[in-house]
Amino acid sequence: MSELPPSTIDRRPTTTPLSAEERKQRMDNPGFGRVFTENMVSIRYADGAWQRGLLEPYAPITLDPAASVLHYGQAIFEGFKAYRLADGGIVTFRPDANARRFASSARRLAMPELPVERFLKAADVLIAQERDWVPSKPGESLYMRPLMIATEGALGVRPAKDYLFLLFASPAGAYFPGGVKPVTVWISEDYVRAAPGGTGMAKFAGNYGASLVAQRQAQGEGCDQVVWIDACERKYVEEMGGMNIFFVFEENGKPVLVTPELSSGTLLPGITRDSLLTLARDLGWGAVERKVTVDEWGEALASGKMKEAFACGTAAVITPIGTVKSKRGTWSVHGGETGPVASKLRELLLDIQHGRVADPHGWVHRVVLVRDARGRGRAAPRPAGRARRRPRAAAAPSRVPRAARRAPARARAASRTTARSPRRRPR
Ligand code: PLP
Ligand code: COI
Repeated sequence: MSELPPSTIDRRPTTTPLSAEERKQRMDNPGFGRVFTENMVSIRYADGAWQRGLLEPYAPITLDPAASVLHYGQAIFEGFKAYRLADGGIVTFRPDANARRFASSARRLAMPELPVERFLKAADVLIAQERDWVPSKPGESLYMRPLMIATEGALGVRPAKDYLFLLFASPAGAYFPGGVKPVTVWISEDYVRAAPGGTGMAKFAGNYGASLVAQRQAQGEGCDQVVWIDACERKYVEEMGGMNIFFVFEENGKPVLVTPELSSGTLLPGITRDSLLTLARDLGWGAVERKVTVDEWGEALASGKMKEAFACGTAAVITPIGTVKSKRGTWSVHGGETGPVASKLRELLLDIQHGRVADPHGWVHRVVLVRDARGRGRAAPRPAGRARRRPRAAAAPSRVPRAARRAPARARAASRTTARSPRRRPR
């Protein structure tokens, strides 16, 4: 028998799946990042090549104490979502863009690039397996978390030789408790998120670890989130927490969206950011990428030129900014309320993601499933007019020999609970 290609994902899912009732209970009011599904995909990199992947039960992993991720921090991740459509089918939104950004983060961290095709296939295979975990309640989705860590046990400071790619999934509701309410932000002058030549453009774990003390300071100032300014001149607005930021101006009665430009390499090139710039242009609005100073922000609010400000990202989609605080004072944005531009864009983006309106840019990737009469997922025809390549994940029968399909006796998926906070920081 011929060898299976290395891109194959062997399927050995849990042999002790949760009952529908148990799953339903765990999916009830899931919050963000607290509940995990029953299986995950792992792909190891060893001997200079990516190995065959494995769909296996979600479970703790073991690491050599000398694994370089624990010492020198080679760790990157991504985040995207799978959405339930009205017909019961499931789609992901621009997963190819996440796959490319994952590869670009890997390059910055001297890690091997996982080919885009393998990233996409891992996603389709896992979503097909976990199809019953994709919520259908409004505002909910299945958040997909791919990551890569350096696993080689070696203390020399150099790129590791061995890596582990993991992909797991988490049913998710609103990112901030309280849903889509305007947040209060603190402009951080004491800490920076990223500097030119650094890792700001990569989804590198260390960026997030380094942000926590500033986030804590923002909370100490009575704010929900931190706003980052540039490291060199300390005057240009960059991002809000783990989200990109937009300002809404008006010209000739039409909104003009302005967002900090990416040129300094210090911002994460958000996929939501890119999508909103495109949607604004589709709507005949202005969409500008340029530098915005903190001074301009305050002056444009005072003069009434700036109508709204909001942040955007996969997890929270669009979060309006209602109040801005800094050492120089407090400003209100749109009377502290959600503005019409933020509302319109949020609704439009969610409508595209849930297949309720046309998808003119081909952003929605069908994971080949609709529900049949018994509520099971099955293969669906590709939507008309869509010429994009479709991985066959969903209904493909496993090509792993029956004997090899037995799952190892490992822990079943477990739900995790963290303390809830009344403040509007991520759950
Ligand atoms: N900026 C940072 C630092 C982020 O972590 C994220 C989230 O991924 C974003 C922006 C938004 O990116 P995206 O829209 O691709 O989720
Ligand atoms: C986002 O998706 O918007 C994020 O910032 C992800 C976050 C949980 C790190």
